[in-house]
Amino acid sequence: MEFPITRMRRLRKDVRIRKILRETRINPEDLIYPIYIKEELKKGQKEHIDTMPDQYRYSLNDAVNEAKRLEELGLFSILLFGMPKEKDELGSSAYDKDGIVQRTIHKLKDETELVVITDVCMCQYTLHGHCGVIRDEKILNDETLQYLSRIALSHAEAGADIVAPSDMMDGRVKAIRRTLDENEFYDTMIMSYAAKYASAFYAPFRDAVCSAPSFGDRKTYQMSPFNITEALREVELDIKEGADIVMVKPALPYLDVVKAVKDEFKMPTAAYQVSGEYSMLMAAIKAGYLTEDSIVESLASIKRAGADLIISHFTPRFLENHELECSINI
Ligand code: PBG
Ligand code: ZN
Repeated sequence: MEFPITRMRRLRKDVRIRKILRETRINPEDLIYPIYIKEELKKGQKEHIDTMPDQYRYSLNDAVNEAKRLEELGLFSILLFGMPKEKDELGSSAYDKDGIVQRTIHKLKDETELVVITDVCMCQYTLHGHCGVIRDEKILNDETLQYLSRIALSHAEAGADIVAPSDMMDGRVKAIRRTLDENEFYDTMIMSYAAKYASAFYAPFRDAVCSAPSFGDRKTYQMSPFNITEALREVELDIKEGADIVMVKPALPYLDVVKAVKDEFKMPTAAYQVSGEYSMLMAAIKAGYLTEDSIVESLASIKRAGADLIISHFTPRFLENHELECSINI
């Protein structure tokens, strides 16, 4: 049937009709809030991140308080990034059982019901700022695996529900799974940053957590923005090695990859709406070029592409305005 019998505009007649016919919904449990915890900060202190409007580096106590506030608004899961007092060549503060992330996990598990996810990497903890062990300015793959495994294990011991390796070394999911199993952490899940691109959209994050590499770049381990079949191979390997959830990162410039990964592997799939995606929209909203509706629209596009979970700095804003989102006139 076609016009005049079929009229597509019938489907959009008014808000209630549009609402019942809506194909994509964003629920609070779909969102994961990335939070930065800085060891040096004392209770009551938080630092605004200038490259990310309305985002902060928190002290341990304030991070937990913020998590509690958001839990009351419906937050389900949180992703922890630590900023240690001390950095060294091997990033040893990353696997210290009294490290900033480990202590935060304990407190969150004691005081909230949140699903606690941790970023597993070396770059915030090493003086050189790379995601692995270095020799002669080369990032050594196999030597790095034992450190990542130790970091992941220390997070599991502290009570993390999910560890999320973001380094892009080959074989790290396998190494981490083996270490977790040897220590009987059979139920600790791995969410792998499976297809992580060498993206310019990470710039505000590196500024936020001071993890820019001191020499070179991350292109020998993170993927080229021009490749998608390679991304599918990366994801396939991580699944074979034991990943429980696979992630594509960034999200908006890589929605085709999100869709391809979900369609091909039918795995629980996460997409990371990274710092640059956040700051780009926020800058435009603050300047009056865009309205706040662009936020929900961007989240909807990521879900439409097939993501089950979205890691996003917009999570607090979304939760604070959830009622608004439900009735939004889109
Ligand atoms: C590093 C890491 C990065 C992000 C999370 N973990 C960036 C990088 O590779 O430098 C990006 C997060 C963001 O931009 O929001 N392992
Ligand atoms: Zn890293």
